Amino acid sequence: MLIPVDLGPRSYSIVVEPGALASVGARLRELRVGSRAVLVTDAGILKLHGQVVVASLEAAGLSVTVLEVPDGEAAKTLAVAEHCWDRLLAAGADRTSTVLALGGGAVGDLAGFVAATYMRGANFVPLPTTVLAQVDASSGGKTAIDHPKAKNLIGAFHQPRLVIVDPAVVLTLPDRDFRSGLAEIVKHGVVLDAAYFDDVERSAAALTARDLPTLTRIIGGSCRLKAAVIHRDPEEKGEWRFALNNGHTIGHALEAATRFETWTHGEAVALGMVAEARLAERLGLADAATTRRQEALLRALGLPVQAAAVEAEAVLAAIAHDKKARDGRVPFVLAPSIGAFRVVYDVSPADVRAALASIVGGGR
Ligand SMILES: NC(=O)c1ccc[n+]([C@@H]2O[C@H](COP(=O)([O-])OP(=O)(O)OC[C@H]3O[C@@H](n4cnc5c(N)ncnc54)[C@H](O)[C@@H]3O)[C@@H](O)[C@H]2O)c1
Ligand SMILES: [Zn+2]
Repeated sequence: MLIPVDLGPRSYSIVVEPGALASVGARLRELRVGSRAVLVTDAGILKLHGQVVVASLEAAGLSVTVLEVPDGEAAKTLAVAEHCWDRLLAAGADRTSTVLALGGGAVGDLAGFVAATYMRGANFVPLPTTVLAQVDASSGGKTAIDHPKAKNLIGAFHQPRLVIVDPAVVLTLPDRDFRSGLAEIVKHGVVLDAAYFDDVERSAAALTARDLPTLTRIIGGSCRLKAAVIHRDPEEKGEWRFALNNGHTIGHALEAATRFETWTHGEAVALGMVAEARLAERLGLADAATTRRQEALLRALGLPVQAAAVEAEAVLAAIAHDKKARDGRVPFVLAPSIGAFRVVYDVSPADVRAALASIVGGGR
């Protein structure tokens, strides 16, 4: 499956295909990029999936420098970025060279940031290896490192030249990371496409069993939905890219209020989606059946829909610092029905408290 992301002169394709990693060298050749490739990855992923990428690049006549970075969020620091710039320079990389990111969203965000800033922009090609990175982080051009005080604070928009999604790669993911990524898939259905949501509902058992044809169809469908959003709103200046923040205003705040220790991102988003669905009900925007469908699907995918406890005041404080705020007003992306969204501002703290209370323990 080849999904075009239509952005005029910055257009690119997302390739979704089992085994696609082995085609990266030939595809780079087709793009007529320079002969130097720098592969950014972490040690664990390098061992699992690095060899096929290096072999493909070398077979296409590219010189390859492998640049190992720390695992997970620890990669997204200024010190690691600086180390990467040094290594690019030492490898003789220039603006025609290509930085490839083999890994999850963390490796992708760091490598994308390095590519965006090195000589004001080298080629960037993500090879996402987590479900979250395949359906969300790798396309769209958002790159970032963390600031000691806030995640993703320092970054740039830098669109990739190509994205290669190999669904077979997620078969090696630990269970919790795998399920986490499914939350973003549900989110795409909830705010963008009711028929896709139906398909995910019907496919829940096959998805959690990691049936490869199902994974390929559902991951591909999610990439297609994200591509359409990027086309409409490449740099989150309008409301379309905002749509992807459904479940995230409360989800991010739940993560921040627990110092990112209690839930993975996807788990916090699942809880955020349920809380925001209840909020939509409270505000008279959606009915209880819409909430119930989201809750049932998340549960079927092994994601949490209830929290043991929530420190409501800490969550409210985190919401007040939401990076998406526009002129101090925090947006909530709510779903009036499956497949639709509405951005709502000026939600009262009392309504947020009630929504949070509804996900604690036994729910309503
Ligand atoms: N740029 C964007 O648009 C965007 C969007 C969403 C999230 N993000 C960012 O993505 C990051 C989270 O990404 P993530 O959820 O992919 O987690 P991650 O990148 O931290 O990876 C999670 C873990 O899985 C391991 N791993 C990755 N692929 C594997 C595989 N195929 N088999 C076995 N292990 C594997 C990694 O080594 C790591 O330990 C956050 O930093 C977040 O800010 C960015
Ligand atoms: Zn997310």
